[in-house]
Amino acid sequence: MSVRFNRAYLMDFIGGDEYRALEDRVKTAHLALNEGTARGGDYLGWLKLPEEYDKEEFARIKDAAKRIRETSDVLVVIGIGGSYLGARAVIELLGSQYFNELSPIKVYYAGNSISPDNLNNILKLCEGKRVSVNVVSKSGTTLEPALAFRIFKSMMEERYGKEEAAKRIFVTTDKERGALKHLSDIEGYESFVIPDDIGGRYSVLTAVGLLPIAAAGFDIDKLMAGAASAMTRFDCPDTEQNDCYAYAASRYILGEKGKTIELCGCFEPAFYMFGEWYKQLFGESEGKENKGIFPASLIYSTDLHSMGQYVQEGKRILFETVVRFKKPASELEIDTDEDNFDGLNYVASLPMSYINRQASDGVLLAHSEGQVPNLLIEADEIDEFNVGELIYFFMKACAVSGALLGINPFDQPGVESYKLNMFALLNKPGYEQAGEQLRKKLK
Ligand code: PA5
Repeated sequence: MSVRFNRAYLMDFIGGDEYRALEDRVKTAHLALNEGTARGGDYLGWLKLPEEYDKEEFARIKDAAKRIRETSDVLVVIGIGGSYLGARAVIELLGSQYFNELSPIKVYYAGNSISPDNLNNILKLCEGKRVSVNVVSKSGTTLEPALAFRIFKSMMEERYGKEEAAKRIFVTTDKERGALKHLSDIEGYESFVIPDDIGGRYSVLTAVGLLPIAAAGFDIDKLMAGAASAMTRFDCPDTEQNDCYAYAASRYILGEKGKTIELCGCFEPAFYMFGEWYKQLFGESEGKENKGIFPASLIYSTDLHSMGQYVQEGKRILFETVVRFKKPASELEIDTDEDNFDGLNYVASLPMSYINRQASDGVLLAHSEGQVPNLLIEADEIDEFNVGELIYFFMKACAVSGALLGINPFDQPGVESYKLNMFALLNKPGYEQAGEQLRKKLK
């Protein structure tokens, strides 16, 4: 057992009667998820995935990852949103933000913006290196990754010739539809499937996340084992016994009390991209029908020296979800200095992790006293198993939160608005008239 939800710092903000008042609604959400009748019920494939995944494809993922590691110095992962964030979140949480500096294989992420500078920099980083590409897109038509893939496809074919390039390009997409699937059938790229019933932001435990994570050298068996453990542990309908549901209920209660911004904080810088994944998961799932808690993320103690002031004394619309890992992967000790030139001898011979822990306790107390309720999520350590549990914990909590809010946590209708405008302004065939109208509005 690893991931736990600790409500100790919530007592002053949420009473037992408030949880009890929600019990039936949480149970209804639980049943709707398990019976597939929840809103957006066509997208519940992630729920049983940790046990019911395609074992044959899983073996192929490991095999492809091994080949990538043997034949490449660089893996370029092309994708955006749910087709990007999960892989990067896991790779950098397990391997730190210095993953690329420390690892024999570098992983660069393209297709998550339309910036020519960004793409040119990645192309430069690929110069003189052995490169493989994993393009990830469920629809196969998302503009950002499609643009990046055009450029990388040309680069790869120019460098390796069509036949060898095809061996170095891996596609993760729909099992039968879309431009990418069509192309990979023609070109003979090895392809992996994003199941129909799993949406982007719930897809990190499919080939979307698993191939880059395995190619980066991490153990995807352990990741899935952690998720499977969470699947069993967080399947009880009773909020009192189910930490995942207690977390979802706590968020909902706080949201109803006007705490409309959730800060997901962690005292490990390696958590930075996981915070980005969490933001997409909750933001895209809940932010609709004029509802939803606005998710933000902070890294402590870094952000205590920037956002800490606001958290402590700004508008009281915040609550904080702190993810705390009990044991670091490595330790450091502060030396005693004879002259005590910096006055730090009072912490000499203490493990750095102990100092970090005292800082985090101090922050929890200060923020709680400043009327920022703290939801503490504790995990044992930063390894594949714990990270797998954490991923599942957040995905299920998000699904239940969505049900409590009465929205569909598996769609993203609002994302279409910018796409329509962008296509119109670019004169995509069929959008010309809309483009004319929009150009009149531009100042
Ligand atoms: O969560 C989602 O569904 C989205 O963020 C998508 O993952 C994102 O828009 C990318 O879509 P696609 O995989 O079709 O390129």
